[in-house]
Amino acid sequence: MRLYEIRETKGIDSLTAVERDVPKVWPGQVLIRVHAVSLNYRDLLILLGRYARGLKLPLVPMSDGAGEVVEVGAGVTRVKRGDRVAGIFMPTWFSGDVSPYTARTALGGSVDGMFAEYVALSQDSIVHIPAHLSFEEAAALPCAGVTAWNALTSWVLKPGISVLVQGTGGVSVFALQFARLAGARVIITSSSDKKLEKAAAMGVSDSINYRTVPDWDQKAIELTNGIGVDHVVEVGGPGTLARSLNAVRVGGRISLIGLLSGADATVNPMPILGKQIQVQGIFVGSREMFEAMNRAINLHQLRPVIDRVFAFDEARDALRYLESGDHFGKVVIRV
Ligand SMILES: NC(=O)c1ccc[n+]([C@@H]2O[C@H](COP(=O)([O-])OP(=O)(O)OC[C@H]3O[C@@H](n4cnc5c(N)ncnc54)[C@H](OP(=O)(O)O)[C@@H]3O)[C@@H](O)[C@H]2O)c1
Repeated sequence: MRLYEIRETKGIDSLTAVERDVPKVWPGQVLIRVHAVSLNYRDLLILLGRYARGLKLPLVPMSDGAGEVVEVGAGVTRVKRGDRVAGIFMPTWFSGDVSPYTARTALGGSVDGMFAEYVALSQDSIVHIPAHLSFEEAAALPCAGVTAWNALTSWVLKPGISVLVQGTGGVSVFALQFARLAGARVIITSSSDKKLEKAAAMGVSDSINYRTVPDWDQKAIELTNGIGVDHVVEVGGPGTLARSLNAVRVGGRISLIGLLSGADATVNPMPILGKQIQVQGIFVGSREMFEAMNRAINLHQLRPVIDRVFAFDEARDALRYLESGDHFGKVVIRV
């Protein structure tokens, strides 16, 4: 079978196509013919040598893939041959809180990931994908989708609350979609007016270009009559957190998800105290969250936003495209 491997982390060209035998299926496991993988910013960080969380090398990359069960091992009861499934980001996080052990089992980082024609996974580490989604669409769900779902549904989410979403990448566009599903008001920031137009077509109430309006936090306060937004989906990290603390209302919530603006910062904690802000770290989510998200996606026939689908042989081009930041939503590779 064909697969990709990373032996060293010296840039996108460290991603190498190789051939290997189809994995053996052990009791309790299933063999999946992977049809699509989606890219996450983390996959780029790994290749650039900027992701240190217990990396296994050599590594089959990519946490997110969807495909079809083609063989089941002894004792498998959760799925059958022909079922359409996706792997869960942390194969040992089923429900409840994440544990230090579980956090070290993430696909495409601490253990081999999904970027292979065939992957063997425990029957407990997969979920059925919504029937109306293509494999390309379903491959977008495990990391970006579940992260956005966890961020939004682990706090108040109801019609009329205001959610500020930063940028228009994979996590943020899912956050936009889930917030709109619940009838929330979405205020979005982006570096691009063209992307803001796309977001407006998806029901976003207010758009702020953070390049031309660098004090977007003030604008968000103005847009909420001086009160501040209820919830910020924070993907920028060090470069944006201080403004998020300013933009959020007293008693509001910041879901701390990403570090797109780098990893080093000095943050003044006073606004957290003074405004009694909840700052919640989010690390993807459990299988239970994935299944709850899929129920909502099924019910509302929601479709992930796929910007572009690349061919298997174009994997490096796909990663360069992700690196360019030109995408809106998700970048996918057909396997
Ligand atoms: N904690 C977790 O569980 C978890 C899970 C998934 C992702 N993440 C992290 O979340 C972040 C986003 O991941 P992703 O996969 O969605 O990335 P992505 O698809 O590559 O998103 C990139 C987009 O983010 C926007 N952006 C970049 N810098 C920004 C800034 N300073 N302020 C506001 N927006 C900015 C840009 O949107 P515009 O072009 O519209 O400006 C850019 O196109 C990454 O740091 C990733 O590592 C964390």
